[in-house]
Amino acid sequence: MKKNTILIILASILAISFVFISTDLSGGRSNAQTSDPQTMPEVITLGKDAKLGQITFNHLKHNNGTYKMDASGPIACTTCHHTARPAADIAKTPPLKTAWPADRTTTLTLDLFTKDPKGAGVAACRDCHARTGEKPKLIDAIPEVKHEGSPTAITLNNQQAFHRTCTGCHTDVKKNDPLTKAPQQTQCMLCHKKAA
Ligand code: HEC
Ligand code: HEC
Ligand code: HEC
Ligand code: HEC
Repeated sequence: MKKNTILIILASILAISFVFISTDLSGGRSNAQTSDPQTMPEVITLGKDAKLGQITFNHLKHNNGTYKMDASGPIACTTCHHTARPAADIAKTPPLKTAWPADRTTTLTLDLFTKDPKGAGVAACRDCHARTGEKPKLIDAIPEVKHEGSPTAITLNNQQAFHRTCTGCHTDVKKNDPLTKAPQQTQCMLCHKKAA
């Protein structure tokens, strides 16, 4: 009798978690489209699981114009959130080609996000650029790119995707400003810090 009760409880827990898991999978878009409205993060801790230490990323200063490349104003949202544009626009900047959601017609801007956070379609980088060995949440496999003139494909796990975006830009920043505080690719510990 007691054993049966335990079995029934176990079965219900399994059933409930199954429903939960399948909702989560089918709701891959949920982040942006069905869950609670997102807020714009000001400071984001990245790489909590990185051996070298986590990274404190000031999202606000990187997109409100405090940090900028030139006189053209704040860094565009889509410089980093590269999938948050219509596919036809993305096709103009190869090797990029993937839009998310695939049928989107809008381009991510502060204005779009403020008016309609759910519809703005912002996804976390790691939902696609998973760590090696992990399956991305939004797409079938960790993305690969081939650059024009290069025979080898690069697998864009989290490390590759972030380093290319972050230090790619910081390298350009240093060209115009040799004294910049933007950490360069070899200055690992200016980004990675062990939690106190
Ligand atoms: C501009 C900041 C920056 C610099 C400089 C930098 N990194 Fe990173 N690194 C990151 C970010 C951001 C991630 C992605 C964290 C995440 O997945 O959330 C990352 C991820 C990694 C990962 C993968 C962690 C994991 O297990 O998921 C490794 C390894 C790594 N970095 C090593 C290095 C080394 C070695 C250097 C210096 C040669 C370096 N990084 C320089 C920002 C930086
Ligand atoms: C310099 C790069 C960069 C710029 C510019 C940028 N972001 Fe981000 N944003 C990020 C990173 C990195 C994350 C963290 C993603 C993650 O957790 O993987 C993030 C996270 C977000 C999130 C939270 C996503 C989530 O799933 O939790 C929102 C919303 C967002 N950004 C909106 C914007 C908007 C709107 C703009 C333009 C006004 C913008 N971002 C500009 C890099 C950037
Ligand atoms: C919906 C999935 C998805 C999300 C979210 C996403 N990416 Fe990507 N990313 C891709 C795919 C797929 C590619 C390969 C090119 C393509 O198909 O557009 C790529 C390519 C890249 C590249 C290579 C660009 C080049 O020119 O070689 C970098 C760097 C990158 N992503 C960084 C990021 C960062 C940083 C974020 C978060 C701010 C992010 N990605 C969010 C799917 C995604
Ligand atoms: C499009 C350009 C661009 C991109 C992309 C970018 N940065 Fe920066 N970053 C800057 C500029 C500009 C500064 C300010 C330089 C200065 O004031 O000397 C900066 C400064 C920094 C600093 C030092 C100041 C501080 O806030 O602590 C860190 C750390 C940093 N960036 C981390 C990152 C990380 C992590 C990413 C990727 C998620 C990233 N950056 C992506 C342009 C960029």
